[in-house]
Amino acid sequence: MSTNTPVGTAARPLRVAVVGSGPAGVYAADILTKSEAVKSGELTVSIDLFDRYPAPYGLIRYGVAPDHPRIKGIVNALHKVLDRGDIRFFGNVDYGTDLSIDDLRNHYDAVIFATGAIKDADLNIPGIELEGSYGGADFVSWYDGHPDVSREWPLEAKEIAVIGNGNVALDVARMLSKHADDLLVSEIPDNVYAGLKSSPVTDVHVFGRRGPAQVKFTPLELRELSHSKDVDIILYAEDFEFDAESDRQIQSNNQTKTMVGTLTNWIAEQPEDLSELTASRRLHLHFLHSPVEVYDSAEAPGRVAGIKFERTELDGTGNARGTGEFVDYPVQAVYRAIGYFGSALPEIEFDHSKGVVPNDGGRVLDAAGTPVPGIYATGWIKRGPVGLIGHTKGDALETVTYLLEDRENLPLAATPAPEAIVELLAARGVEYTSWEGWLALDEHERALGEKATAAGESHGVAVQRERIKVVPREDMVEISRGAAVEV
Ligand SMILES: Cc1cc2nc3c(=O)[nH]c(=O)nc-3n(C[C@H](O)[C@H](O)[C@H](O)COP(=O)(O)OP(=O)(O)OC[C@H]3O[C@@H](n4cnc5c(N)ncnc54)[C@H](O)[C@@H]3O)c2cc1C
Ligand SMILES: NC(=O)c1ccc[n+]([C@@H]2O[C@H](COP(=O)([O-])OP(=O)(O)OC[C@H]3O[C@@H](n4cnc5c(N)ncnc54)[C@H](OP(=O)(O)O)[C@@H]3O)[C@@H](O)[C@H]2O)c1
Repeated sequence: MSTNTPVGTAARPLRVAVVGSGPAGVYAADILTKSEAVKSGELTVSIDLFDRYPAPYGLIRYGVAPDHPRIKGIVNALHKVLDRGDIRFFGNVDYGTDLSIDDLRNHYDAVIFATGAIKDADLNIPGIELEGSYGGADFVSWYDGHPDVSREWPLEAKEIAVIGNGNVALDVARMLSKHADDLLVSEIPDNVYAGLKSSPVTDVHVFGRRGPAQVKFTPLELRELSHSKDVDIILYAEDFEFDAESDRQIQSNNQTKTMVGTLTNWIAEQPEDLSELTASRRLHLHFLHSPVEVYDSAEAPGRVAGIKFERTELDGTGNARGTGEFVDYPVQAVYRAIGYFGSALPEIEFDHSKGVVPNDGGRVLDAAGTPVPGIYATGWIKRGPVGLIGHTKGDALETVTYLLEDRENLPLAATPAPEAIVELLAARGVEYTSWEGWLALDEHERALGEKATAAGESHGVAVQRERIKVVPREDMVEISRGAAVEV
C-alpha cells in the first residue's frame, strides 16, 4: 500500500483499537461504524475490540447479578453488533501485558480505552483488613464466575453487615440472603451454588450513612428484595428521619418518592413484635449509620466479631453528620459496597483521586492537561463508576464525536495492515480468543444449561437452566480456541 494512500478510504481504512468490550467499548465501536461519515461513504473504518477476558461484555457478564436475566439480556443487542462481522474481537488480550501503548500506536490511528472498573473503593476505617471483611466487588466477581478470582468464598457467617446504600449493596445483600436453590434458574456456576448452599447466614444488615430519602439504589431493585423466598425484611422506626431537604427531594424526584413510599409501607406493615416474622433469614435495612470500626474479639483475634457505627442525623443539606452516639452490631462478616474504583492503565495519565483517566469529553489528557493525540476514553474509566449500562451509550457518542472531529490530525499508524496485529499477538504467544471463539463458548455454556434441564434437575432441584457459566480462564480459552470439550 502506498504511503500516500489517503487514510479513511477503502484502501487504507482509519484503524481504531477499542480496549475493553464492556457496554462502553461495544457501543463506541458500533457508534463509530454507524456514524454519518461512515454511512455516507466519506470514511471507511476498521475496528479491533480487545478485552483481557476471554469473553466479551465486561460487567454485564461479571457484575450484573445472575438473578437479573432481563438485564443480562442486554447482551443480545451487543451480540448483534459484534455478530455483524465488521468489528473484530480479540479476547484474552491484556493491555499493559500483551500489548503496550507503542504497539497500539504502531497498529492503529486511534485508541479508545473503555476499561471500566472492577475493584472496590477503599474504606479507611480501623479493622477493615480483618479476616471476614470483604470488598463487595470481589464477592460480585466470585458469584458471577470471574475467571481470575478464587473458586472458593468463605461463607461461614450467620450475621453479616453490608455497608452502602447503592444498587451494588442491594445486589450483595440479596445474593447473601437468598436461598441457593432459588438461584438455580440462573447461570450461576456450580462452585457458586455449592458455596451459597452451605451458607449458615440468618441475618444480613444493610447500612446507609444517610436517610431513607438519600439512598442511591433504585425502586425496582428495592422492591425486588421482597421477592426473595423465606427472607423477611426488617426496618427500624428510629431510622426514618425526614428533614425539609428530604421532603424537597421526595417531591422533586419520582424515584425517591417511590422508594420512600415502599420503605414506609413496609415498616407500616411490619408486626410490632418481630418474633411474629417466620422466615428463616432476615434482611435488615438500617439508615443513618456511618461505619467507624470493624473489630475482632479476644476469642478470635484477627477475625471480624462486630462493627461499630456512629448514628448520624440529617444536616439540612441532604448530607448527614455524626451525633456522637455509637452502636455495635455483632457480625462475623462485613462487606463494603461503597462504590467501585477504576484502575490505572500503563503509560496513560491517571487521576488517582477519582479513579479515572483524565479526559475532556473523552479526549485523554496528559499530565499538563493537554489532549494526547489519538487517545480517547469512554464508559466508567472516563466518567467514574456510576450509572447504568444505557448511560455508557451517551459517553460513547460523545467520545466518538470528538474522535471523528479530530480525524484529520490523528498520529497515523506505521503498521496499519489488519493482519499485522494478529501476527504480533501470535509471535508473542498470546492465546487470543475471537468472536467465533466466543460463539463456541456461548454454545457450550448453553449446552451445559440444556443438559441440566434435560436431566430434569440440577443439584436435586427441578429447574430449567438457560446457561451454566464456565469459570476457569484456561477452560474458557480452550473451548473458545476450538478444543473439543465434552459437555
Ligand atoms: C455489581 C454491578 C451490577 C450492575 N448491575 C447493573 C444492572 O443491573 N443494570 C445496569 O444498567 N447497570 C448495572 N451496572 C452498571 C454497569 O455494569 C456499568 O454501567 C457498565 O458495565 C460500565 O461499562 P464499561 O464498558 O465502562 O465498563 P465494564 O463493563 O467494566 O467493561 C470494561 C471492560 O474492559 C476490560 N478491560 C479492563 N482493563 C483492560 C485491559 N488492561 N486490557 C484489556 N481489557 C481490559 C474489562 O475486562 C471489561 O470487559 C452494574 C454494575 C455493577 C458493578
Ligand atoms: N440493578 C441495577 O440497576 C444496578 C446494580 C448494581 C449497580 N448499578 C449501578 O452501578 C453504579 C455503581 O453502584 P454502587 O452501588 O457501586 O455505587 P453508588 O450508587 O455510588 O452507591 C455507593 C453507596 O456507598 C455509600 N458510601 C460511599 N462511601 C461511603 C463511606 N465511606 N461510608 C459509608 N457509606 C459510603 C454511598 O453513600 P452516600 O450516598 O452517602 O455517598 C452510597 O450509598 C450505580 O450507578 C448503580 O446504580 C445498577
